[in-house]
Amino acid sequence: MKQQLKLTILSAATMALLGLIVVSSAEPLAQGSNPDVVKSEIDPKLVLRPKGTKLFDGNKAQLIKQGEALFKDQKLSTNGSSCQTCHAENEGFSSTFASAYPHEVTMAKEKAGTSEVQLDEMIQFCMVVPMEAKPLPWNSRDLAALTAYAGELQKAFRKRLQSNDARAGNSSAPK
Ligand code: HEC
Repeated sequence: MKQQLKLTILSAATMALLGLIVVSSAEPLAQGSNPDVVKSEIDPKLVLRPKGTKLFDGNKAQLIKQGEALFKDQKLSTNGSSCQTCHAENEGFSSTFASAYPHEVTMAKEKAGTSEVQLDEMIQFCMVVPMEAKPLPWNSRDLAALTAYAGELQKAFRKRLQSNDARAGNSSAPK
């Protein structure tokens, strides 16, 4: 008798649970809510230098070389991208990249509300947002290497922008 009661309760609970699952899966997605908007917002603390940060300092030429390798390394991301996936041949940068840091970058402003970023902060930004990974440790050699290499890319980017402007007869190239 006791056993039977247990069974009854158990099957009633199962039925209730099943009912719940059916009802909740049949529920239409809330109208007007855009999951991308929620997902895209990130905590600025993840990407802005904490106070008192000491960045790694080392031989510039070696850092640039290491940074170039890291730039192509998919292992830095969790989604199979490398920096190179988006920024090969200096693509994927807006004209802001030509300006000295810190400066405003649209993506950083839209996703974290930051009015301006440093180069290393921008790299952390790309680590967290497009690369879907953790930010690199602030004092790491890897961050210093990527920053050094990105600095070289910036120089090339400026040159290309200036020569494009010269060809277009536009003298207002960014300083
Ligand atoms: C899925 C594409 C994608 C990947 C992967 C990616 N980025 Fe970016 N990156 C962007 C976009 C988009 C912007 C923002 C452009 C804007 O809003 O002006 C950007 C901006 C930047 C900027 C700043 C440009 C400026 O205007 O000052 C730097 C530097 C940068 N990325 C470096 C990196 C590095 C280093 C990596 C690898 C750790 C990386 N990115 C990975 C898409 C990507």
